[in-house]
Amino acid sequence: MNGDVLLEAKDLSCGYGRMSVVRGLDLPVVAGEVAALIGPNGAGKTTTLLTLAGELAPISGEVRWLGAPTSSPMHQRCKQGLSYVTEERSVIMKLTAHENLRLANVTVAAATALFPELEPLLKRPAGLLSGGEQQMLTVARALGRHPAVMLLDELSLGLAPIIVQRLLQAVRTASKERGVGVLLVEQHVRQALQVADRVYVMQRGRIVLSGSAHEVGSQLSEIEAAYLTAAPEGDQGPA
Ligand SMILES: Nc1ncnc2c1ncn2[C@@H]1O[C@H](COP(=O)(O)OP(=O)(O)OP(=O)(O)O)[C@@H](O)[C@H]1O
Ligand SMILES: [Mg+2]
Repeated sequence: MNGDVLLEAKDLSCGYGRMSVVRGLDLPVVAGEVAALIGPNGAGKTTTLLTLAGELAPISGEVRWLGAPTSSPMHQRCKQGLSYVTEERSVIMKLTAHENLRLANVTVAAATALFPELEPLLKRPAGLLSGGEQQMLTVARALGRHPAVMLLDELSLGLAPIIVQRLLQAVRTASKERGVGVLLVEQHVRQALQVADRVYVMQRGRIVLSGSAHEVGSQLSEIEAAYLTAAPEGDQGPA
């Protein structure tokens, strides 16, 4: 039901081996809502998604999934309705767009309802689609499986702003119409704010600010200046 917390980080520390990259993270992914996680390079955004997905084990704290603490591996969470879309294009380049959809058990009708621009491209090998078209196929494949939760890591890396907007709007619509809980990591902060309900700003592994997209948007210049530029080499800043 909309408003339910589907996936949640609770006082979560995570990282690689025993080195924690992210510390004390509290972050809920809520049905029917889009949360955006933003922050400079190296802040710990991908590490957060990997841990929420079950690819990395927490160092301390917990990940709750569908109402209970979990340590299940990613493939199991995926079977239970988690969709994790990474910055690498997840389409199979040698197969046609249509075959890519079929492999994901997604109908052409469902895909073209989301992205009508895919219609004339169905017979083309995915490797010959533009980057934006490949990501439309990726999103169509992911949404066509009716996930409960979507984690999106820089879906729009290297794409033109108009395509970014198109992809993010499709995700937002799915969230609102079907109650999908979305957590997206995005470099295009302004575009992310247009589709997000809540925003979390991460710096050096900690949430330094969070609020509604409206609140964060109203002070975006200050936030960008204070948090969104990567710290210079050697500057560890306040612990
Ligand atoms: N496999 C790994 N082993 C050890 N350290 C890693 C590994 N992957 C990432 N890190 C480190 O963890 C920190 C956070 O990286 P992470 O990829 O989560 O950042 P990010 O916020 O996603 O950055 P970007 O915006 O550049 O994608 C960085 O200091 C990075 O060097
Ligand atoms: Mg990353």
